[in-house]
Amino acid sequence: STKTKIANFEFDNCIMNAAGVLCYDKDELAKILNSAAGTFVTKTATLEPREGNPEPRYHDTRLGSINSMGLPNLGFDYYLDYLLELKKTHPKRTFFFSLVGMSQNDTHTLLRKVQESNFDGITELNLSCPNVPGKPQIAYDLETTEKLLTDIFSYFKKPLGIKLPPYFDLVHFDQAAAVFNKFPLSFVNCVNSIGNGIIIEDEKVVIKPKNGFGGIGGEYVKPTALANVHAFYQRLKPSIQIIGTGGILSGRDAFEHILCGASMVQIGTTLHKEGVSAFSRITSELKEIMEKKGYKSIEEFKGKLKYL
Ligand code: DHB
Repeated sequence: STKTKIANFEFDNCIMNAAGVLCYDKDELAKILNSAAGTFVTKTATLEPREGNPEPRYHDTRLGSINSMGLPNLGFDYYLDYLLELKKTHPKRTFFFSLVGMSQNDTHTLLRKVQESNFDGITELNLSCPNVPGKPQIAYDLETTEKLLTDIFSYFKKPLGIKLPPYFDLVHFDQAAAVFNKFPLSFVNCVNSIGNGIIIEDEKVVIKPKNGFGGIGGEYVKPTALANVHAFYQRLKPSIQIIGTGGILSGRDAFEHILCGASMVQIGTTLHKEGVSAFSRITSELKEIMEKKGYKSIEEFKGKLKYL
C-alpha cells in the first residue's frame, strides 16, 4: 500500500496537492477531499484576505509552469472555519493548514490563533513565497529564520512543518539543516517553485506581475527537488520528516522522491494541468512500480537511494 504517516497521523495515500493548487476555496478543497489524495493542504493564508497580483499570473508550458500569484487567498478565518467543519464531517482525517504572515508579527498572530483554536491537524508555515513584490523569501535568510522559529516554538505546541525554497549549494544545505535541527519541527517540505524565472513566447513574457518574473514548477524542477529532498534527508534528525514536492508527473517521479527520503509527496503543476484524476493515475503508477519491485510499503524503499 501507499499509506504513510506524518507527525504520527496516518494517511491512506502518500500523495496530496501542493499548496497553491486546487485549494483556494471549499469547492476546490472538496474536490481533493473526494479524490484518491491522502489529504490536502490549503492555499497559504494570510491574516486578511488578499486579491493577489494582476492577471495573467499563471501560465502552463510543455515542460511546466510559471506563476506570480501574489498570495491571493480568502484569509485565515475562512480556512480555519472550513478545517473545523471537516473535523465534524471527517473526524478520522487529518489536513494541512498553510500559513504565512505579511510580517513576522502577523505570522505570530496567525500561529497563536492556530494554537488557541480547536484545529488539531498539521500546520505548514510557508517560508518560501517568491511572488510578493518587495518581500524576500524568508528561508533564504537563515538568521531571520532562526529567530522566527525560536519565537514560534516558545508558544506553538502543535505539529508544525515548513515549506522551503530550493537551495543550490551544499554548504547552504549544511547551514540550513543546522538551523532546522535546533527545533521540534515535524517536517520540512522541499521544494517550493524555483523562484523568479522567465518564460518567453513570441518575444514576450507570459505573465504580467514583475515584468514576467515568476516561480517555475513542473518538469524543470525535478532534479533540484530530488536533490533538496535527499540533502535534507541526509542532514536532518530523524524526527524531522521530509515532504517531497517538485516535478512529479508520474508514479516514477513519486517513487524517486520517496527513494530520496520523502514520506509524503505533493503535486502542483501536474494537478493544475490534469485535475484530480492525476492523484489516482500517479497512485496506480506508483503501486505498479512497487509491485514489480516487490515493495509492500513505502517504508521499504524510503531514503534508500543507491550510490555508485
Ligand atoms: C505564492 C507562491 C508561492 O510559491 C508561495 O509559496 C506562496 C504564494 C503566490 O504567488 O501566491
